[in-house]
Amino acid sequence: MFLPSPWRQFFPGILALQEQQHIWLDSAATTQKPQVMLDALTQHYQQGVANVHRAQHQPGERATRSFEAARSSIAQWLHAAEQDVVIFTKGTTEGINLLSQALAHHFQAKDEILISAYEHHANLLPWQQLALTHNLTLTVLPMNADGHLDIDYAITQLSAKSRLLAVSALSNVVGHTQSLQRLLRAARDMGIWTVVDGAQAAVHQRPDVQQLGCDFYVCSAHKIYGPDGVGLLYAREHAANALRHWQFGGEMVQRCDYQHAEFLPAPLGFEPGTPNIANIIAFAATLNWLQSLDSQAIAAHEAALHQQLLTGLESRGMQIIGSPNCALVSFNAPQVHHADLALLLGEQGIAVRAGHHCAMPLLQHLGLSGAVRASLAMYNSGDDIQRFFNALDRALEILQ
Ligand SMILES: Cc1ncc(COP(=O)(O)O)c(C=O)c1O
Repeated sequence: MFLPSPWRQFFPGILALQEQQHIWLDSAATTQKPQVMLDALTQHYQQGVANVHRAQHQPGERATRSFEAARSSIAQWLHAAEQDVVIFTKGTTEGINLLSQALAHHFQAKDEILISAYEHHANLLPWQQLALTHNLTLTVLPMNADGHLDIDYAITQLSAKSRLLAVSALSNVVGHTQSLQRLLRAARDMGIWTVVDGAQAAVHQRPDVQQLGCDFYVCSAHKIYGPDGVGLLYAREHAANALRHWQFGGEMVQRCDYQHAEFLPAPLGFEPGTPNIANIIAFAATLNWLQSLDSQAIAAHEAALHQQLLTGLESRGMQIIGSPNCALVSFNAPQVHHADLALLLGEQGIAVRAGHHCAMPLLQHLGLSGAVRASLAMYNSGDDIQRFFNALDRALEILQ
């Protein structure tokens, strides 16, 4: 008897995929959605919609109240302090692009931005492009042999020319949770802006932005059982005040004439245009539901599945990338191309992902053209993993 998931029943998408003979091991790319989220969306649309902010009618007031209540409950989920700010974005990618533009005026030529060697393109390219246009130095903090950031070494790299540090809390390739607190504290003590990419981490470990001690934290709803097209940009109060407006339009204006304008502070000043109202409300409902579950039981379940995945891959002689300790494993089969393996797994109904995982420099650094990645969420069961292994064994018989 393999480990069942007590939460599987709450995810109609997982049950539908199961009926279609698909096993979902691609949650690091996007997660399936709980019924609670679908209900919140339906309810929002069924009661009659209205745009938010500045409405004189009751439906508009109701929509604004639900929207701002969603912001408050999301801020509480992040453990944000009262005066801190949550800006809604389209996702992690937009959040980091926003930061790279809205902080650009703080940089002078030769200033330094530090990132880690394992960043997703979303937390590399906005900084790389800022560095190129402003003549800045982009320093890449190295990983050790296990694929972890060497925190002690990283601290020694912070200097008077360092202006910003941007690192992810969990790599989407090496799958190792990083303890970033010491590094973030050291950076902040030196007046360096700190950005944490929580795109992968947030779903497995509820963020505590105050404990983490970062200036900015970004993540995407669709990777936390929430809807597509919604992201969070958390900003500590003083950090939010340092942002310069970056996109312009309605909903963000304090005063405006044909030649000049003054803008609202964050969050509204950074949310021009009609926001993703229904999805933001549904995301808050999803997070409220998640908080009603036993988070320790979920973490223990995911850890047991991860161990099953890792042990089975190791016993089959797969080459594991790094030393993953959370939710995902990237691997290659000796003498087999990752794309061929993923194709044969896909044909047997196993949804994994293969390629460079939007981390091309990392894979180049590891001397790899790509890797297969299996990733887990709370709705997976031991049976999913066993079926994956059955399919893997059949694929390897054909390919090796
Ligand atoms: C670590 C990391 N950062 C950023 C992103 C980008 O997230 P999104 O595509 O939701 O903007 C991803 C997506 O896989 C990721 O894994």
